[in-house]
Amino acid sequence: MKRPVEGFSKLTKEQKIDWLAKAYFYDDENAVYVLKQYWNEDTQLQKLHDEFIENTISNFYLPFAVAPNFLVNGEYYTIPMTIEESSVVAAASKAAKFWQKRGGFIAKVIDTEKIGQVHFMYSGDKSRLQTFFTYIKPQLIHAVKDITKNMEKRGGGIIDIELRDKTEALTNYYQLHATFNTLDAMGANFINSCLEQFAKTFKAAAQDYSEFTSSEKDIQIVMSILSNYVPNCIVHAEVSCPVEALNEDRLTPHEFAEKFVRAVAIANAEPHRAVTHNKGIMNGIDAVVLATGNDFRAVEAGIHAYAARDGQYRSLTQASIENGIFRFWIEIPLALGTVGGLTSLHPLVKIALEILDKPSAKELMQLVAVAGLAQNFAALRSLITSGIQKGHMKMHLFNILNQLGATEEQKKLIAHQFKDKTVIHSEVVAAYQQLTSN
Ligand code: HMG
Repeated sequence: MKRPVEGFSKLTKEQKIDWLAKAYFYDDENAVYVLKQYWNEDTQLQKLHDEFIENTISNFYLPFAVAPNFLVNGEYYTIPMTIEESSVVAAASKAAKFWQKRGGFIAKVIDTEKIGQVHFMYSGDKSRLQTFFTYIKPQLIHAVKDITKNMEKRGGGIIDIELRDKTEALTNYYQLHATFNTLDAMGANFINSCLEQFAKTFKAAAQDYSEFTSSEKDIQIVMSILSNYVPNCIVHAEVSCPVEALNEDRLTPHEFAEKFVRAVAIANAEPHRAVTHNKGIMNGIDAVVLATGNDFRAVEAGIHAYAARDGQYRSLTQASIENGIFRFWIEIPLALGTVGGLTSLHPLVKIALEILDKPSAKELMQLVAVAGLAQNFAALRSLITSGIQKGHMKMHLFNILNQLGATEEQKKLIAHQFKDKTVIHSEVVAAYQQLTSN
């Protein structure tokens, strides 16, 4: 019987599992068995994972894979990817193999500015607020010296603080809009600590500011938080080659290039297609962001906002044919870190970063953008030639057979049957049923 629980967080892991199994499972022994099956025998490693989040009762595995042969800015990379969906890693690998023979990927970070905001309400005279802000700005920067001094020593810190009047969007609403350079750190804690201090200093100084009327002194701080929308933390990645080099089985190079450019144009023009097109890009981006211990929710939110920056949700990639040259590129905002957070805690994240030769945040931005571009190339290449199902379902075959409970021998036999055929779920089920009924 499902019921609420008091003080759950204070229970031990065993007690939490016991409560859950009894409250939610008819076969509680099996539930306990499955949850514990995923515990790591290494108790230190398990404890580390337990402490990443709260109320941990087990581990949730995702496959950790690598896609080799990425030639980026003249260097070879093997890209680690963490994802549950079949065909993504194969597609990335196939795209990498294709482009390594055509000059590889060129990637460049355009800017790395991060953003944080103190949101506040003020109902007084606007020009007096502006004068107060100009007066207080040096004090705001001074008030966070203890937080910023190490970042400044490394070459980063606060770029600027602006007062922004948002009263057209919401009555009495203003912001302190601050920009930061957080170097190799994603910077969320650094930015939030600075913002919270700005808010305290700003409010306290307003109360003592003699030019304000008594009601103007009462500035209401609503919240202080970084923004995951970072349109000035941008990376560009691209591939290009003569159209003649786009040899494909089913289409001439010119047909392929033109159809490809049209497919991208459709994603630019039509939001339903743009969402799926960008989902395919995120297959690559999320997988590398996750493998390298970065915050994929922040990346997703920021990238999708960027895709809609002109008011319509559009493709994150662009393609063109000019003077016989096919060009395909991506430009996305990415706030990533290669120090701090999970990057120094999770053993597999450390391995992922070592595979990438311990990249700086800028280098990681380039590789993540390249993974997104490669993924989009592979998906579009399939979509405009064979269709997506052929390759995707070829990779998915073993998942279907595992769902059916096929033995290794049965899997081998059925895989052989589908070697040169498009995999269709119902046909795999029929093949399995025929095999097991014999
Ligand atoms: P294929 O031509 O059958 O592969 O492609 P192949 O067996 O000829 O092998 C060629 C290369 O592909 C290999 O080279 C590998 O690099 C890679 P090799 O290693 O032999 O030197 N490869 C593999 N890598 C690892 N494990 C494997 C494997 N097989 C091939 N088992 C493939 C098959 C799936 C790669 C191709 O059909 C493809 O790229 N399809 C696109 C799949 C895709 O985009 N999947 C994402 C999921 S679908 C989706 O969510 C997004 C979508 O909706 C987005 C959109 O609409 O835009 C489509």
